Amino acid sequence: MTRCNSENLFPSAGLGWTPPEPLTCYLESDRLVIRSYRLEDSPELFKAVTDSRDGHLLPWMSWCKNFHMNIEQSTKYICDQILALENPSTFNNVGTGIFSKETGQLLGACGVHDVRRDTASCETGYWIRKDAIGNGYAREACARTISWALASHSNGGLGLQRVRIYCSSLNTHSTRLIEQLGITAEVRQRNDYYIETLGATDRLGWGVLSDEWDCENHCAFNPIKHSSE
Ligand SMILES: CC(C)(COP(=O)(O)OP(=O)(O)OC[C@H]1O[C@@H](n2cnc3c(N)ncnc32)[C@H](O)[C@@H]1OP(=O)(O)O)[C@@H](O)C(=O)NCCC(=O)NCCS
Repeated sequence: MTRCNSENLFPSAGLGWTPPEPLTCYLESDRLVIRSYRLEDSPELFKAVTDSRDGHLLPWMSWCKNFHMNIEQSTKYICDQILALENPSTFNNVGTGIFSKETGQLLGACGVHDVRRDTASCETGYWIRKDAIGNGYAREACARTISWALASHSNGGLGLQRVRIYCSSLNTHSTRLIEQLGITAEVRQRNDYYIETLGATDRLGWGVLSDEWDCENHCAFNPIKHSSE
């Protein structure tokens, strides 16, 4: 995302991060189970996206404009996510579902993306179905996912050293969520994030390093107070 061209074209081995093997994702937090998808999740995933697409996921999540338009596409997506975890040597990203512990309902999704072996880092992102927002689920899932990314292999994590989160400066709900995590605001890239119907907006970026995050309690050791709180 914020890499320069030569990093993309001539990637360095750098820190030489490798994923744990076997690579699995099954996480629990107070109210949620965050796990890799199973084939039987496909109808619910399709319905959650369909019910949330207009005026909620859009305009922020450009993928859903033309994706998950039928159950077959949702099934194919889930197959791709299952395969991503089954191939540690090429592992680069995985989407995971966010489920209610109490009801089992699929509430939304998160995951890790753009996993970089040179800097042992990844990006994370999230969405929550329209009828489940306002309950703190996205924040809980995001914090738990950061802990998964930064915890050591021996503690069931990916063993990464840095997590990035980006969003448009106009996405106030997402900005608020990230700021409440108390992690460091790192970049503001002007007119760098195109949002359909809104145009080129500023890209905001935050980052957290492994020694700044308490992977047992899923929170920053020394939370930073941001302006939106
Ligand atoms: C961004 C998005 C995930 C935020 O969802 P959300 O439910 O508002 O976010 P949170 O999990 O942080 O929940 C916060 C709200 O839950 C409330 N809440 C209720 N119970 C809570 C609890 N136990 N803990 C924390 N917050 C709680 C908070 O008061 C807050 O409400 P407020 O915004 O009215 O003050 C959601 O709007 C979304 O899916 N948007 C579309 C996709 C998107 O933009 N994704 C991000 C791309 S960068």
